Amino acid sequence: MKTKIMTVSEEEVSDEMLTDAGDIILCGGLVAFPTETVYGLGGNALDPKASEKIYAAKGRPSDNPLIVHIACMEDLEKIVSDIPENAMRAAKAFWPGPLTMIFKKKDIVPYETTGGLDTVAVRMPVHKTALALIRTAGGFIAAPSANTSGKPSPTIARHVIEDLDGKIDMIIDGGAAVIGLESTIVDFSVETPVILRPGFISLQMFKEIVPDITMDAAFLNEGNPQVKPKAPGMKYRHYAPKGQLIIVEGKQEDVVSYINQCLKEQQNKGEKTGVIATNETYDFYQADLVENIGSRTDDEEIARHLYGILREFDEAGITYIYSEQFDTPRMGQAIMNRLIKAAGHCIIKL
Ligand code: TXA
Ligand code: MG
Repeated sequence: MKTKIMTVSEEEVSDEMLTDAGDIILCGGLVAFPTETVYGLGGNALDPKASEKIYAAKGRPSDNPLIVHIACMEDLEKIVSDIPENAMRAAKAFWPGPLTMIFKKKDIVPYETTGGLDTVAVRMPVHKTALALIRTAGGFIAAPSANTSGKPSPTIARHVIEDLDGKIDMIIDGGAAVIGLESTIVDFSVETPVILRPGFISLQMFKEIVPDITMDAAFLNEGNPQVKPKAPGMKYRHYAPKGQLIIVEGKQEDVVSYINQCLKEQQNKGEKTGVIATNETYDFYQADLVENIGSRTDDEEIARHLYGILREFDEAGITYIYSEQFDTPRMGQAIMNRLIKAAGHCIIKL
């Protein structure tokens, strides 16, 4: 299949391009598009065959449900059967934006889209191109992140092209994602709302709107395989670079000297080494590839750069990657959640 690649700027999206992309989705095809979190791989959420195509293009297990993207509140009522008061408050506070909410689904949403579940995940993105595409494509776009299953989520169109060129109908290049990590997922289909995946909207921000919200026990027991995460997608090895990633925690000078020691040992064994460093430490490392993720005090910058950097190590053929820890107050939990998964839980505490 030849994949059409279209470039847009967020301020100006041509009607012709939108009609073209919307028609592809209405006819059962797939279009990758930009959102504020990461790029999505979109198909008609109400068409079971389109959802099957999404799973096939990504190589994703079909028990891992998709998020349905909508562009207005009226459309939410068409696909979910019960909208609790708390969810309405969350929608008012955070939609459109990087929040996904889980509800009991109506029959119109096929089980192929929800991975066989009676609940459906719904998000209203704020990205203008995404909203315009949802409207022209009939109102309901099922979209997981537009990467091959197991690879880091795409934050620029080039990442999507690397993974999906030739497998889908169209890729819309809208530049770099401003957030760079996937949406916060909250389950509202249960009595007490639960955060299933941390993101740009933190637990603290949520508590101001929904005071009794909790975190999925899987986060509080990070690393304990007995506690299974409730979002099916969180159980898979994810966001993984090809090389072995190791996170080193401790005081800054101890971390730098420990990592430099490890780098020497690995280089002596003929390994190609990499480091995820910060503005504050970038100059101190002696690796084959040192990537600067940003300032330790700017968690939005760290989040925005993380996935792109993991892909850079793959491109350079790095076999051992060491990373500092980023326990920043607001997005730290979301950043570390992705980084720990990418490392397959390999953490050294000094
Ligand atoms: O920011 C985002 O959320 C991006 C953009 C494209 O919107 N999308 C995204 O989709 O990250 P995906 O498929 O990569 O991640 C969806 C996550 C998976 O972990 C999946 O298991 C979970 O949402 N999920 C979807 N429906 C669910 C449901 N009904 N119950 C529990 N978890 C669900
Ligand atoms: Mg994903």
